[in-house]
Amino acid sequence: MSQGSVVISPLSESDTADYGVLFKYVFSKSPWHETWTIEEIKENLEKVRSRRGFLGKVAKIESRSVGFLTGYDIPVVSKIFYLDQLFIDETYHGRGIGKTLLSTTLETLRLKGGRLVILLTKVDSPAYFFYRHQGFKPLLPMFRLRGKVLLFFSVYKK
Ligand SMILES: CC(C)(COP(=O)(O)OP(=O)(O)OC[C@H]1O[C@@H](n2cnc3c(N)ncnc32)[C@H](O)[C@@H]1OP(=O)(O)O)[C@@H](O)C(=O)NCCC(=O)NCCS
Repeated sequence: MSQGSVVISPLSESDTADYGVLFKYVFSKSPWHETWTIEEIKENLEKVRSRRGFLGKVAKIESRSVGFLTGYDIPVVSKIFYLDQLFIDETYHGRGIGKTLLSTTLETLRLKGGRLVILLTKVDSPAYFFYRHQGFKPLLPMFRLRGKVLLFFSVYKK
């Protein structure tokens, strides 16, 4: 495993191929078991990229893409950011990369005057516990959508 340091950069068009390959691999695994084609992933990324307030970040170690984060502003309701995707190459889990991608994004949003971040994740999944550990809370505790729960984080609070 590489011991190089993590560099976080804005997501650019040239990261699309790496994004597609890593997304397909990570979300084919437990607990997601999803079956995306690379074309579908790229189409979705293009849609998200065209949203107002789009933010995308990539984490690289020695030029290798090891994690991604994307999201955008919720339409109509101002200053609420929807965190669409956050995923890390499993070889690099537990090394603080997810936390770094998230915290740099929260800082960017804070500087833009953002209020809330919301996201949907699977109840009681590793990602759910990761987000809870980072301070996210259930928005509507009883609300479940096909096994998923809405979490929120107040950007003003550290
Ligand atoms: C969830 C995910 C993004 C976490 O990324 P990661 O880089 O492995 O996590 P980090 O190493 O940054 O962990 C940061 C902190 O969260 C904690 N954490 C990470 N996973 C955790 C878990 N499953 N349960 C509890 N805490 C967890 C770590 O212990 C660490 O704690 P610290 O802040 O006290 O040091 C990563 O596991 C992943 O990509 N999962 C698959 C894709 C996915 O499910 N994405 C979310 C879709 S909604």
